[in-house]
Amino acid sequence: MNANTKLTISHSNSKLPIERRRVKFDYADIDREDFHSDNTVLSAYWVGLSATFPLGEAEFIRSVKLFEDQIEDEKLSVDVKDFAVQEAHHSLQHKLVNAQFDKCGYSTKKVENLIEKKIFERIESWTPEKRLMRTVAAEHFTAVMAHYALVEPAALAQVPESLRNLLQYHAIEEVEHKSVAFDVYQHCVGDMAKLRRHYAHFAFIEFPFNMWLITRFLLKDMGHKATWEERKGMWRFLFGKTGMVSSMRTYYMMFLKKGFHPWQHDDSELVSTWKEKLEPHFLNTHG
Ligand SMILES: [Fe+2]
Ligand SMILES: [Fe+2]
Repeated sequence: MNANTKLTISHSNSKLPIERRRVKFDYADIDREDFHSDNTVLSAYWVGLSATFPLGEAEFIRSVKLFEDQIEDEKLSVDVKDFAVQEAHHSLQHKLVNAQFDKCGYSTKKVENLIEKKIFERIESWTPEKRLMRTVAAEHFTAVMAHYALVEPAALAQVPESLRNLLQYHAIEEVEHKSVAFDVYQHCVGDMAKLRRHYAHFAFIEFPFNMWLITRFLLKDMGHKATWEERKGMWRFLFGKTGMVSSMRTYYMMFLKKGFHPWQHDDSELVSTWKEKLEPHFLNTHG
């Protein structure tokens, strides 16, 4: 190596470009409460998840931006900006689809009010490091769900087209930026053992419990009594042979291994395939 060659090691480990896309879907085809597989329980689960996105993703952006000044790496700084643009557009799209869910009888606004309270408490009492840690944990969880949506598209075959497109577009971008919050944490905080403990609590206790509460709340609020068939459908979606939890178990657990990094699970090929399929829905793309 030439003596003048400067060796630069970036703290950004992103493998894919984090593209700034715009999309526009007409959510009018979501027109009944059991829009997912004629199953109101399954539908309420997705509504609940979508209801958490506008405020949840806004907090992801804030928690990462709290560390922007400490990032001494040009590529990682650019990653953070692109990550923020992607998440902001997801928030907007989920606000729009949530309004459509409300037209079908759901009360996403009430769920948002609960989430708002929780996030406000977090901002008041959690340290910036803990807020970032929560984002890293949630981002891994989202990346696993995103991978599932792309690798097992049959799971979304029976949802209205606009929602399927939204979820698959969102999935592509979650994979593209899946390591940004992780890289910022590793670079600026670095306590990986603490992060693993936080993830374990979030992934295996807090998230499943909260999703159960939110789904139950939405159903109760609509006065819907779940049938045995609907409960079975929900169970199959999560724990069936090709269910989200059963088939993604190893990916969920990977985070707990020492030395883990999100790109050790390489789904870049999968994203390229889906980018081509969804290209007609992208209004503009700036790499
Ligand atoms: Fe997102
Ligand atoms: Fe994300």
